[in-house]
Amino acid sequence: MVAECLISVGTLCKLKNDSVILDEIANRHVYFVHSYRAVPSEENEEWIHPPAITGLTSISSIRRGNVHAVQFHPEKVEIFSDVGLSILRKFLLPNSSITKKSFEGKATKLAKRVIACLDVRTNDNGDLVVTKGDQYDVREQTKENEVRNLGKPVELAGQYYLDGADELLNITGFHFEVHIRECFCTIDSWRWHSRFTDANGRYYSSLEVASEYFRSGADKISIGSDAVYAAEEYLKTGVKTGKSSLEQISRVYGNQAVVVSIDPRRQYLTSPYEVGFKSVKVTNLGPNGEEYAWYQCTVNGGREGRPIGAYELAKAVEELGAGEILLNCIDCDGQGKGFDIDLIKLISDAVSIPVIASSGAGKAEHFSEVFSQTNASAALAAGIFHRKEVPIQSVKDHLLKKGIEVRM
Ligand SMILES: *[C@@H]1O[C@H](CO)[C@@H](O)[C@H](O)[C@H]1NC(C)=O
Ligand SMILES: *[C@@H]1O[C@H](CO)[C@@H](O)[C@H](O)[C@H]1NC(C)=O
Ligand SMILES: *[C@@H]1O[C@H](CO)[C@@H](O)[C@H](O)[C@H]1NC(C)=O
Repeated sequence: MVAECLISVGTLCKLKNDSVILDEIANRHVYFVHSYRAVPSEENEEWIHPPAITGLTSISSIRRGNVHAVQFHPEKVEIFSDVGLSILRKFLLPNSSITKKSFEGKATKLAKRVIACLDVRTNDNGDLVVTKGDQYDVREQTKENEVRNLGKPVELAGQYYLDGADELLNITGFHFEVHIRECFCTIDSWRWHSRFTDANGRYYSSLEVASEYFRSGADKISIGSDAVYAAEEYLKTGVKTGKSSLEQISRVYGNQAVVVSIDPRRQYLTSPYEVGFKSVKVTNLGPNGEEYAWYQCTVNGGREGRPIGAYELAKAVEELGAGEILLNCIDCDGQGKGFDIDLIKLISDAVSIPVIASSGAGKAEHFSEVFSQTNASAALAAGIFHRKEVPIQSVKDHLLKKGIEVRM
């Protein structure tokens, strides 16, 4: 593709030509915001896409094999036409004839992600350890009752990076959890709590705390209890106040930066009309033969149940600006018997933001199960990775064998 004008800061250029990535551009404009331009030469001749253009003064697009790059900003052209989104869509799925319509909603065509979760705590000796509990209890059932120690955070994080984890989640036990993606150099500098008051009594808002995490290299912040209260308030009043940490952070950093972590507990019902919350017909009957269940949200690490269901919460936080949902399940946590498919199906069908399935993974087959039976975009595990029972690579190999697309 060729620009008809010189590339300079903030120039709007008219482009011609077509290719797999660019075939919907026709004669529409794209946007350049650069101080530099690449000029055609004999050395880069083979890269220029499309080739054989005479009188070219600057290069707007290159292609070599599967690699295709553009110098202009597809994301900035959207204010003029929808050509920008079309280009981004083609980058994601170059060979399919996708329309704008078919791209709305589920992100199920994208590669599924496998996430390693590091629950980092300070143990009784004051050392930072990666721990893992059963149904949220991280202490050993021994006389000493010590915090279970599964390794050192930075070592494990480095190992998971090499093993091909798509993301790491660092739970610190505070309000905020942190998503790290391929970013390990700054890990040790993270020492911030939500709503932190420092030694001089200075108060930091959750937005300031989040900013600190982002500056330290985190890609996303996840919010637990705070999001439950915000959703309850929103459902009660129907008003978005804009004041919750969820709304503030997503307004400043974008929806994709905010993950809401849901910690529901299964509550069995004999009839779906017993409560005012969305219920499901369960695959495995309850202890007294109950056929239904609702999923009650909890706060404070599962200690307190709230009058809101996982379904209601998920829909409310999507409206408030969450970009992703991390869906735990207290009943399955640490059990190794598989994800709660009923719950994950309920939530991943209810919202159009990506859902990360969490709690219960015990073997590679549990990952293919959750991806084939629900619309989850990612699945997370902790204990089985830390204890080296199931290597991340074997999960990905298994998924590929089952025809599920993953990033290798
Ligand atoms: C996608 O399209 C390119 C170029 O047209 C072609 O070379 C490639 O084989 C296609 N890939 C698939 C998976 O169809
Ligand atoms: C996780 O967070 C804690 C506390 O913020 C930090 O000290 C630790 O180094 C982090 N670990 C990893 C692996 O990110
Ligand atoms: C994914 O979502 C679609 C539309 O909401 C639904 O029809 C489909 O059954 C879901 N797929 C799975 C595997 O649950």
